Amino acid sequence: MISGPIPLFPEQASSISPEVDHLLYYLLAVTIFFTVLIFGAIFYFAVRYRRRSETGIPAPVHGSMALELTWTVIPAALTMVMFVWGASLYMKMQLPPEDALQVYVVGKQWMWKVQHMEGQREINELHIPVGRAVKLIMTSEDVIHSFYVPAFRTKQDVLPGRYTTEWFRPTKAGRYHLFCAEYCGTKHSGMVGWIEVMEPADYQAWLSGGRAMGSMAERGEKLFRDLACINCHHLADQGRCPNLVGIFGQNVQLSTGQAVKANEAYIRESILNPNAKVVAGFQPIMPTFQGLVTEEGVLQLVEYIKSLGQRPGGPPEGAAPRIPFSTSKPSTR
Ligand code: CUA
Repeated sequence: MISGPIPLFPEQASSISPEVDHLLYYLLAVTIFFTVLIFGAIFYFAVRYRRRSETGIPAPVHGSMALELTWTVIPAALTMVMFVWGASLYMKMQLPPEDALQVYVVGKQWMWKVQHMEGQREINELHIPVGRAVKLIMTSEDVIHSFYVPAFRTKQDVLPGRYTTEWFRPTKAGRYHLFCAEYCGTKHSGMVGWIEVMEPADYQAWLSGGRAMGSMAERGEKLFRDLACINCHHLADQGRCPNLVGIFGQNVQLSTGQAVKANEAYIRESILNPNAKVVAGFQPIMPTFQGLVTEEGVLQLVEYIKSLGQRPGGPPEGAAPRIPFSTSKPSTR
């Protein structure tokens, strides 16, 4: 790629990077071509049709259908190419593959906190294996941040109170910049870090370093006990609270008569704002856990509830929703 002493573009380090660059080259080529054409025409006409005498009267101009059609149809075709190309690339970047490795990210003034399902946790670093699709499930503890990895050509806002996702497939082992790309306060410019793309064997070795601290689901289970959720949500039988076994990914019938899919966003809301959606047949007796559990803790609880297995007839275990979680509209950025 174009690099060297003055790198014009960051390294291409994900499967999507070359595709994003090709679209950018097209946009640049179209833009440069028309900039030159229009400014060239302005100067040419300014000279060619300059006022030559005090009394000279220019010949009247008549319209030309052929000319009108030409400069309507050609730009329309060029912009349609931009639209179709851009939209299909956008969709590709929005929909993570089913087999993507899931990693949880919490943005916080002014750091990135990362949790791996196997138990590793890190701050301002993200270790991932080369060649494997990685899906980030992200939220913020405070204000809006944005997870931006130029070498992967990917950027996604990280919002408080919502989960957004971002995925990429690194193609080259190495160390790449991570930036926060949304102004988030005094030390926004310091909210940076590194993506470490490792060979799969090295990654496995690195990952096993976190096992001793317990997986996310195990931490979630501990929280589930520490916060006394278990006292009401018995997992063996139906208590005064819904049994959570196998609930993840299922449709839940609410007291309002509506149904909602038990995804990450629903579980998060049920922990922090329990009365927003009360399950049919239950009383709104659950207290809020707002302020008692961090966003990272909520994610551990989500992982724990996911790990509680599936009821017969449900989707396969661990199946992730294809569309970024449904309470959040797909971001338009
Ligand atoms: Cu976080 Cu800017």
